[in-house]
Amino acid sequence: MTQATLADTNTGNVRMTAGERAGIPPRRMDFEFSEETNRYWYGNSAFLTTFWTTLSSLFPEGETFFVDSVKNYRGIIKDPLLKAQVSGFIGQEAMHSKEHEAFNNMAAKHGFPADKLDKELGVMLRFVRKVVPKKMQLAATVALEHYTAILAEQLLRDERHQQMIKDPEALKLWMWHALEENEHKIVAYDVYQLAGGGYFLRTFVMLITTVLFFAIVGVNHARLLWADKSLFKFKDNWKGITFLWGWKGLFPQLAGKYLDFFRPGFHPNDHDTVALLDEWRHKMLDEGGMLADQIKNPSRAAKSTAAA
Ligand SMILES: [Fe+2]
Ligand SMILES: [Fe+2]
Repeated sequence: MTQATLADTNTGNVRMTAGERAGIPPRRMDFEFSEETNRYWYGNSAFLTTFWTTLSSLFPEGETFFVDSVKNYRGIIKDPLLKAQVSGFIGQEAMHSKEHEAFNNMAAKHGFPADKLDKELGVMLRFVRKVVPKKMQLAATVALEHYTAILAEQLLRDERHQQMIKDPEALKLWMWHALEENEHKIVAYDVYQLAGGGYFLRTFVMLITTVLFFAIVGVNHARLLWADKSLFKFKDNWKGITFLWGWKGLFPQLAGKYLDFFRPGFHPNDHDTVALLDEWRHKMLDEGGMLADQIKNPSRAAKSTAAA
């Protein structure tokens, strides 16, 4: 496991934020999506585009919930490094919510009601906040952060995804989000451990979360396909199902990493992504990189000084 350390508070004339010092720098983005964005931006496939759009529809409310569940425990954190990592995590997730909201509004203009699905999730999560114990809410965040980290790692590692995303702005959004999910993947987990969260609750909540996650994604995906009048295009949909669930499909490839979570003593850093993230930071943030002109706080583009 790579141990993160806090970097110096100053680099040249630029004063670093806590998140930057911990190697989890919130990067301000302002992607531009419009009706011009390719309608079937993922592989020219209605099935796969609506699948990823379904995930996107869960992010604004879902990631706000993640942030709140970690904030509930901010008071018990004394370690300066973990405090800084939490700041970085909150900043990154807030930015993801904002940009996916913009993406969902674009999808809505194409007739996919992603904004509506987001609002519905918000209602459900407000209820969860009221009735579910805070430790369990944090455990759910740990479980879902595991999902996002392994899915995001796959997006970065498997070039097929990068080739399938046909819209340049959408490609930037998904790769930027994938990078940052892995930069902050340990934060909720470490806060959970500090809060005294144990193995039984973590794995029990993971099982419940898995069932709920696939139920919600499955139903909402079908609703987006219905809205697109593509629900009964069996041949095209079968191709998409094979891409996700077939031999060498997205989910079977993630199975081993998903199951790692059930190992006692598992920690997100057991999945070593240090070199992968370095490679992508260069690819995206260096001069001429995919995000070099996009990032709104370029001085903080994040040559990470602390390993996440
Ligand atoms: Fe995120
Ligand atoms: Fe996250």
